Amino acid sequence: MEAIYLKYSHDFRDYTGASQKRRVLYALGQLDLPSISALQDKVLRDPAVFSRLLQFLTIPVSEMFRDPAYFLALRRQVVPVLQTYPSIKIWVAGCSTGEEVFSLAILLEEEGLLARSRIYATDINPTSLEKARQGIFPLEAVRGYTANYQRAGGRRAFSDYYTAAYDAARFDPALCADVIFADHSLATDSVFAETQLVSCRNVLIYFNRQLQDRALGLFHESLCHRGFLGLGAKESIDFSRHAASFDALSRAERIYRKAS
Ligand SMILES: C[S@@+](CC[C@H](N)C(=O)[O-])C[C@H]1O[C@@H](n2cnc3c(N)ncnc32)[C@H](O)[C@@H]1O
Repeated sequence: MEAIYLKYSHDFRDYTGASQKRRVLYALGQLDLPSISALQDKVLRDPAVFSRLLQFLTIPVSEMFRDPAYFLALRRQVVPVLQTYPSIKIWVAGCSTGEEVFSLAILLEEEGLLARSRIYATDINPTSLEKARQGIFPLEAVRGYTANYQRAGGRRAFSDYYTAAYDAARFDPALCADVIFADHSLATDSVFAETQLVSCRNVLIYFNRQLQDRALGLFHESLCHRGFLGLGAKESIDFSRHAASFDALSRAERIYRKAS
């Protein structure tokens, strides 16, 4: 990880040891290499191998309306406050291939907020960001997301939002008209905008306490007065250095509000 940092400036040094070890061992198998030193040698000599390793290290796994109760809580408890702002900025940190971004865009559209919202969707994996920009997802998976959408309080037919062709679903590009997909690392970069909502789900789980604190510090700095923070189902701000800087809005759905 030190070597990767020095060569490529991607900082994985403060990710949790156990899951990182699993991913490196999995990568060895996939890349057909006998040892970690062989992997290190290849990665440092060949940026294309690093690019492949990045796919294993970053876990680009996502789904639309993942944990529907989270999106339902956003709809019921956060949207009414967002409606009071003339313009809204949202940061989806660790957006992966875009499923969370499209879910939020659909929710905002149904609540009449999309036209005055800008979403910053950031990640460290350029391949994932490119997929997210395209807004094309496997049709089979999208059909599976329909139930999530309905449980998240969806108001229309989910198929209204995409066009199916062969085995792919292309989401309406209008949903992403004001989404900025950008490379940004919670490990090395700083805050770039003032936001009303930060949604960072299933990312902190891979970080050690120190890096979680860094990321939560960035979210705190980015959020406006009484702004909202949403985390993943297995994540929390309890025990963090920033615990006292947030109030729990929905502890069950991991939605917090910047303390006044
Ligand atoms: C499991 S996915 C979560 C995707 C989505 N947020 C969700 O909940 O479905 C984790 C994402 O975090 C991204 N990630 C990992 N380290 C990061 C970092 N230092 N800064 C920003 N994103 C990071 C990965 O590239 C990956 O896309």
